Amino acid sequence: MIISDNIKAEIQAEYDNWKDKLWAGKTKEERQKLGQFATPPQLTIKMLEKFESLDGNVLDPCLGAGNLIAAAIIAGADPSKCYGIELDPVVHKVAQLRLSKLGVPPCNIVQGDALDPKSYEEKLLPFASAAYAIVHKEESGNISIVVYNNKKLKSLDLPRAKANTVLATLKRKNVKLFKI
Ligand SMILES: C[S@@+](CC[C@H](N)C(=O)[O-])C[C@H]1O[C@@H](n2cnc3c(N)ncnc32)[C@H](O)[C@@H]1O
Repeated sequence: MIISDNIKAEIQAEYDNWKDKLWAGKTKEERQKLGQFATPPQLTIKMLEKFESLDGNVLDPCLGAGNLIAAAIIAGADPSKCYGIELDPVVHKVAQLRLSKLGVPPCNIVQGDALDPKSYEEKLLPFASAAYAIVHKEESGNISIVVYNNKKLKSLDLPRAKANTVLATLKRKNVKLFKI
C-alpha cells in the first residue's frame, strides 16, 4: 500500500496526542517485563506499507496502546472491523478509549491473553475459526508461530527455514497471517 504524505502527517498527529499516555503510568522496569514499547509512526507506517490492502478484518493480537490499529484506521481500515487483544488491563483501557475515539466499538478490544483460545471465542468471532500470530524471536533467530484453528491453539517455535515451510503451507490453505 502507498501511504500519502497527508495520511502520514495525520498518523503522526494522532500519535502525538496520545504519546504521553501510552505508558499507562508504568516504570521502565514494569514495561520491560511485558515488552511494552511504543510503536512510533515511522514503524506503523512501514508496517502498513507492507499490507496489500486494509479491506476486511484487522487484528492486532498484542495491541499495546493501539498504535498500529490507530494508524490502520487513519489509512482507511474500517473501524468496525478492527480488533485487538491486550494482556495488561491498564494499557487495555488506554487502547479502548483511544480507539473508541476513532470509531472502534469497545467490545472489539479484548482484555486477555492472545495465547488463550478463550480470548478469541466469545468476542473475536471473525477470528473464531482462524487467527494466527507470528512473532520473530530476535534472541534465538527462531520464528514463533501461534496458530489458532478450530478452537485449538498451537504454538510452534521453529528455525527460520522450517518456519518458512510451515508458513507457505498455511498460505496455500488460505490461512490469514498476522505478523506481530
Ligand atoms: C510492543 S507492545 C505492542 C505494540 C502494539 N502492537 C502497537 O501497535 O502499539 C507489546 C504489547 O503486548 C502485550 N502482550 C504481551 N504478551 C501478551 C499476550 N500473551 N497477549 C496479549 N498481549 C500481550 C504487552 O502488554 C504489550 O502492551
